[in-house]
Parts: sequence; C-alpha cells; structure tokens
Amino acid sequence: MTDDIFRCRKVSSYFGDKKIIKEVDLSISDRRVTAFMGPSGCGKSTILRTLNRMHETTPGAHVTGEVFFASENIYGDGVDPVDVRAQIGMVFQKPNPFPKSIFNNIAFGPRVLGLAASRSDLEARVEGALKRVGLWDDVADRLEESALGLSGGQQQRLVIARAIAAEPRAILLDEPCSALDPNATARVEALIRELREQYCVVIVTHSLAQAGRVADDIAFFHYGEMIEFGPPKKILSDPDDQRVKDYLAGRTG
Ligand SMILES: Nc1ncnc2c1ncn2[C@@H]1O[C@H](COP(=O)(O)OP(=O)(O)OP(=O)(O)O)[C@@H](O)[C@H]1O
Ligand SMILES: [Mg+2]
Repeated sequence: MTDDIFRCRKVSSYFGDKKIIKEVDLSISDRRVTAFMGPSGCGKSTILRTLNRMHETTPGAHVTGEVFFASENIYGDGVDPVDVRAQIGMVFQKPNPFPKSIFNNIAFGPRVLGLAASRSDLEARVEGALKRVGLWDDVADRLEESALGLSGGQQQRLVIARAIAAEPRAILLDEPCSALDPNATARVEALIRELREQYCVVIVTHSLAQAGRVADDIAFFHYGEMIEFGPPKKILSDPDDQRVKDYLAGRTG
C-alpha cells in the first residue's frame, strides 16, 4: 500500500483572472516518484509551484481549493507559507546555486532553520548532504570555493543537496535535467530514484524516456486539467485518453 502525502481537492491556480489550473483533484504518494507530464503550457510548472505555495509569489497569482500535505491544508488559515516551503523543497530547470561557497550553499537551510546544534553538527550535515548526492568526493577539498565554479551537472546536484540539508519531507523538481548532458542526467536520475526511499518526489519532465526510467506514477495534464493518472506502463504505452495518445504520437506538444 502507498501513503498519500499530498491530496489536492478542486485546486485552481490563477495568474490574475486567467485560470491556469482547473479544479484539479490529485493524490501523490509518499516515497514514490510522481512525474507531471503534458504539452508545453499545460500548467505543469504552475501546479508544481502550487504544491508548496511558490505560485503565489508571482504578483497577481492566487490559488483556490485545498492542498493537504501530511493531513494539513497548506492553504488553511494561519499557515505560514515559509514553513510550507521549508518542508517541501524545490529544484528548478536551471541550477541556481547561491553566489556563495559550496559549504555555505548547503549550510544555508540548516542555519536559517536552526537545525544544527553546533559547528561540527553543521559540518556533518553539509558532508552528509553532499555524500547523498554523490558530490562529496568532487568537492571535499574545495568547500570554501564558489559554487558557481562547478559544472552544470554538479551544480544541479549541489542544489538538490541544498534542498535535502533543510530536511524537507518532499522534493519538487521542475525539469531538473533539461540543462544537463546525458551523463549528468543519468546521475541525477539515479539520485532521484534513491531519494524516493526517503522522500516524496515530484518531477516535471518532457521526456517520455525519463518518465519511464524514474516515475512510479504519472499525472498527465492538458490545458490545466489532469486528464489521466497511472503507472508509466499504462500511461506511456496504453493510455485511455485520446489526448494522451495524441501526445505520445507526437501530434501535440
Ligand atoms: N507569470 C505568468 N503570468 C501569466 N501567465 C503565466 C505566467 N506563467 C505562466 N503563465 C501561463 O500559464 C500557463 C501554464 O504555464 P506553465 O509554465 O505552468 O506551463 P508548463 O506546462 O510548465 O509549460 P512548459 O512545458 O513549457 O514548461 C501558460 O499558458 C502560461 O502562458
Ligand atoms: Mg514548465
């Protein structure tokens, strides 16, 4: 059995008056990788950003409906969006390390959230997060150097390590491999498979092959509606919805 950690009920997301996400009902399991797919502009990034209250940081943007995360409605009265974002980490298409040292990138979350009990605890957290993403051996002797000196693939793993160090419960990734070469992509995909042992992982991807490799479930969107949900075997080879069939055949998106 799987545990649902996110439950969306009639979620709609707007930019001004424009309703981009339309009454989506969706459940996402803990400790699985859920992929959001669909044609360009269908709202994948918007629904992803709705899951951790990032959407509303765009001026004029708002959300209606309910998003339960671990049984709490994150859009409920009195919920602090900053706490929500601390629990639900996010990684973007283009790696975005802070213009700080490698160490200070990873230490950022633990410091802001007051997670580390001492300097040595902080150092252990930084080391642990970098090991987790397979970067430790590459950077152990240059922790004080700028993170901007890393390669794109290393930067993306650094950013994932930064998210992990903040001890989130879920990690949202928006096309995390689109700026990476095939080798770096393979490393990030392997990492995603590992992360799901401990976290809820949601990934937006355009790549059918990538969805086939990493996803346990796929949610397929079309003009802001979720039109089909299921395992990759079903969605990628024998979907029920004609619009998904058309997408797979390359006729849309
Ligand atoms: N800041 C914004 N203001 C107004 N409309 C926006 C804004 N950002 C996105 N949109 C609109 O919302 C819709 C969904 O965009 P979104 O970025 O979520 O799509 P997507 O599925 O992630 O697309 P892609 O695959 O190209 O990344 C699009 O019609 C887009 O034009
Ligand atoms: Mg997008």
